[in-house]
Amino acid sequence: MSQDTTGSTATAAPSAAGGQTRQDALENLLQENRKFAPSAEFAANAVVSADEYAKADADRPAFWANKARELLTWSKDFDQALDWSNPPFAKWFVGGEVNAAYNALDRHVENGLGDRVAIYFEGEPGDTRTYTYAELTEEVKKAANAFESLGVAKGDRVAVYLPMIPEAVITMLACARIGAVHSVVFGGFSADALRSRIEDAEAKLVVTADGTYRRGKPSPLKPAVDEALSAMENGDGHSVNNVVVVKRNGEDVNWVDGRDLWWSETVDKAPSEHTAVGHDSEHPLFILYTSGTTGKPKGILHTTGGYLTQTAYTHRAVFDLHPETDVYWCTADVGWVTGHSYVTYAPLINGATQLMYEGTPDSPHQGRWWEIAEKYKVSILYTAPTAIRTFMKWGREIPAKYDLSAIRVLGSVGEPINPEAWMWYREVIGGNGGKKANPAPIVDTWWQTETGAQMIAPLPGVTSTKPGSAQVPLPGIAVDVVDENGASVANGEGGYLVVREPWPSMLRGIWGDPERFKDTYWSRFEAMYFAGDGAKKDEDGDVWLLGRVDDVMNVSGHRLSTTEIESALVSHPAVAEAAVVGAADDTTGQAVVAFVILRGDATNKGDETVLELRNHVGKEIGPIAKPKQLLIVPELPKTRSGKIVRRLLKDIAEGRDTGDATTLADPSIMNHIAESLRK
Ligand code: WT7
Repeated sequence: MSQDTTGSTATAAPSAAGGQTRQDALENLLQENRKFAPSAEFAANAVVSADEYAKADADRPAFWANKARELLTWSKDFDQALDWSNPPFAKWFVGGEVNAAYNALDRHVENGLGDRVAIYFEGEPGDTRTYTYAELTEEVKKAANAFESLGVAKGDRVAVYLPMIPEAVITMLACARIGAVHSVVFGGFSADALRSRIEDAEAKLVVTADGTYRRGKPSPLKPAVDEALSAMENGDGHSVNNVVVVKRNGEDVNWVDGRDLWWSETVDKAPSEHTAVGHDSEHPLFILYTSGTTGKPKGILHTTGGYLTQTAYTHRAVFDLHPETDVYWCTADVGWVTGHSYVTYAPLINGATQLMYEGTPDSPHQGRWWEIAEKYKVSILYTAPTAIRTFMKWGREIPAKYDLSAIRVLGSVGEPINPEAWMWYREVIGGNGGKKANPAPIVDTWWQTETGAQMIAPLPGVTSTKPGSAQVPLPGIAVDVVDENGASVANGEGGYLVVREPWPSMLRGIWGDPERFKDTYWSRFEAMYFAGDGAKKDEDGDVWLLGRVDDVMNVSGHRLSTTEIESALVSHPAVAEAAVVGAADDTTGQAVVAFVILRGDATNKGDETVLELRNHVGKEIGPIAKPKQLLIVPELPKTRSGKIVRRLLKDIAEGRDTGDATTLADPSIMNHIAESLRK
């Protein structure tokens, strides 16, 4: 009886992701009127109730100050909740001191929870490890001692290039413990991407592994570190003194004596006594690079007290976390912000038991995730729509082979979830294949690398959920949808997503570039944070996310910049010009499609050239950025001022008749392009 009968349930709204314009998607979404109220049982046991909203509205900073004191143990209490005297530079919990690692680890042990499992690790080849809170605390203390003995001090940067193994979490927490700032680089990024991030942050230490496993085969990591560092040695030099290497897949690695050290020789042999001291609430916790609208990734800076407060609060409230009984699984890699906030920090701050899986969902078979969920009795699952759509394609009979009855909350993140995928997720995964009277509620969570923590999401024991909508700003968060002029839109209308008031886990800047921080987020609208997303309010005032309004693409929930891929393409000697668009894709949400003009002296070798250029992007940025489709064209559509009209390229990429081309300097260009593609 979890279904609200106010809506018609007969017609499933078509997929918002596949092959449609945003306007079509929007129309479909607005026809979506199913609603699912929380079951009475769920609501009765929920950790937060509806009065949270009123409490927060009464006094936002005071609400967050209460959460900060409730959820964290401060070494020194703070004097002021929020200092917003110099916007957009916020300070939260001013004067307070707090240690992230102490809060994630030691205090649980001190509180008698040392034997609770912190991490169940499942390696891709099937090897397993379990860390209790006491054991994880000891590992982090050793790593902290080891890093300090290598000369890493408070404020120094540490680059982390690791697979999804417990050492990634241990490294991040060891950095946080000693006040070093981690900069995690996703293992799927190339040597070149790693080099530019090490360079920008001037990292002193790199922590990596020989490699990992991908679909049953060893996949290397260390060679990219070697390549990044030697490229810098052949240039202006670098800041890195040491590389600590975890032995994971046992493959041979190149070794630089004096620089490279095995984890087993340094961390494992370090003393396990280490006292955590409090760091200032605004002390930098980490830098995480993300793609923007220019070619250069931005180092998003997060600090300590506010970030920990909002990640911990949202993890508890949005997933209805009962740490004594739940087994939580977030499938994100620690290389992305979801892995930072909802693998490394929030679950451990909250004393939860979590699962960490190294590999791909189809290794060695397409039921691997559900086998894991059954084995560990996973009760909260947090994943991305692209994964759900992939499982839909593989078929519901695969999850049906496993017992998913323990699942009681499902999360979604990274991109809009189309109602069709939402319903499948609810019935097949949350309903244990239709065997459950009350399927698990789905919480669609909107947020960004920049916001640090979830911002818009239902509360599963409070909100009646709607397939496809993230719905409501969380308590204490002032999200709005505004028009071109920054005025709030009425219900039923669309516009731009903004945040009107500072929030605890907001980014504190872009590493080394305060001007870019102001320009990117605070200049579009007066005194509001501009997220870069389009959104719509429905008749109930619920928020529907409609995708990016800038040159940022979202491929499988991963953020990619059109400009960055274009720069990678033109860095190839055969390429004169390139334009990249994100085209609607049934599985990945968007797919990268590139249009390339070759240089006069380059020969078009057809498929061979296409393959070479795709691989070039893979090498420059990483395999995730490789164009799914690459089209060699004679010309690109441009306005009289020389701006590429991506809208028209998108029409081609999505197989539509091209729209209005009259603003082009030469309107006949679209015909030339179409002709060249027919050949
Ligand atoms: C962009 C941020 C948040 C962690 C993963 C991505 C899109 C994110 C949703 C959602 C619709 C979403 C937005 C946003 N996005 N979550 N629930 N519904 N869109 O972090 O790489 O910083 O990307 O992802 O477009 O701006 P990110």
